[in-house]
Amino acid sequence: FTRRGVLAATSAAGVAAVAGAVGGDAAASVLRGERAEEVGGRRIPFDGAHQAGVLAPTAAHGWFAAFDLAPGVTARQLEALLRTWTRDARLLTAGEPVPGDDAMALGHGPSSLTITVGFGASLLRKLTMAVPAELAAIPPFPRDQLDPGRGDGDIGVLLTADDAVVVAHALRALSRTARGTAAVRWQMSGFNAVDGVTVAKGATPRNLMGQLDGTGNPKVGEPGFDTHIFATDPGWMRGGSYLVFRRIRMLLDAWDTLSRERQEQIVGRRKDTGAPLSGGTEFTPFDLGKQIPGGGLAIGPGAHVRQAAPASNGGATILRKGFSYFDGLRPDGAPDAGLLFLAFQRDPRDGFTRIQQRLALADELSRFIVHETSALFAVPPGTSSHGYLGQSLLE
Ligand code: HEM
Repeated sequence: FTRRGVLAATSAAGVAAVAGAVGGDAAASVLRGERAEEVGGRRIPFDGAHQAGVLAPTAAHGWFAAFDLAPGVTARQLEALLRTWTRDARLLTAGEPVPGDDAMALGHGPSSLTITVGFGASLLRKLTMAVPAELAAIPPFPRDQLDPGRGDGDIGVLLTADDAVVVAHALRALSRTARGTAAVRWQMSGFNAVDGVTVAKGATPRNLMGQLDGTGNPKVGEPGFDTHIFATDPGWMRGGSYLVFRRIRMLLDAWDTLSRERQEQIVGRRKDTGAPLSGGTEFTPFDLGKQIPGGGLAIGPGAHVRQAAPASNGGATILRKGFSYFDGLRPDGAPDAGLLFLAFQRDPRDGFTRIQQRLALADELSRFIVHETSALFAVPPGTSSHGYLGQSLLE
């Protein structure tokens, strides 16, 4: 069999079928080896103009941990931590062990690991540093049911990879080094399909409501992308981005009672192809004015995409990244499931907040979701090979 043949077998069943056709167990282990090289061996460079998690492709696992500083920690102690985290992140994202490694991911490749660090307003206040206007608290919205114990935090760390063991190992490594300086305040984990393995490479991820989620994201290289996504203020944030994190529970039992047609009207896109209800295929721009035969708008007045679109929000544009979570059942028997929603932008006041203000009032989808936690972090620019995370803030 050829390498192309192996890559074509994109599901577990497909791999087994190909393996069976070429001779049982020995062939299966060769296939696993090739696939391991393919997925585990993928490496996303840690250093760069922007931290890697901002623009990295969809990862199968996304974990988020917020740390709080120990009382009395100084800027110099924080700098020491960030220097060590940077050294360790370079090793981990290259699939190398860190000093004192616990062997949790021994033999696993880097699996496209990214480690992205951001600073909360509370961190800057503790260090008596100026808090940028962009980090002003996100206002409350109607229907919010936020749990403060699982929100905000001094330092936010986003870890993404195609192997959950690699993510767990990296988070443990960072937590160990932080001992005495910072400790995890809250942590959440989410998942997606494995890009290029269980779904086609570059496919838009599907969320737990069964929708392709991410189609309308701005694309790197498009006019205005950098202006909308990368920060300019204050100086230490130039090339960075502000990250809004929300844990949004889906009311799946209520959602399930709707017909497919009704679900599609609520979003404004088809579930199978992701195409807008105004016609075309997934990436056809939607036509908000299009009428259906017999009258009425193809994409209704309360459709999520209409209400969220830049055209409805004075041009507000955010880069969304989603990870599904499904953490068992709540005491009321409903699934504790939904979306870890991440949005990167130049300024949350002109991005997430402006859009959410409209969604909370006018979006039909809002009756089927509940925002349960919220956090906001300034994600500083990336590192040069000799620099460290957050250097622009602390030097
Ligand atoms: C588009 C689902 C929350 C902003 C979409 C689409 C889906 C979707 C299926 C269409 C495909 C796409 O372009 O990605 C959801 C779900 C949510 C949620 C299930 C909650 C669980 C939010 C929130 C915001 C938001 C909180 C921002 C405050 C957007 C934007 C678009 C979008 C900006 C693109 C609109 C365009 O194409 O111009 N969402 N969404 N969404 N959503 Fe959401």
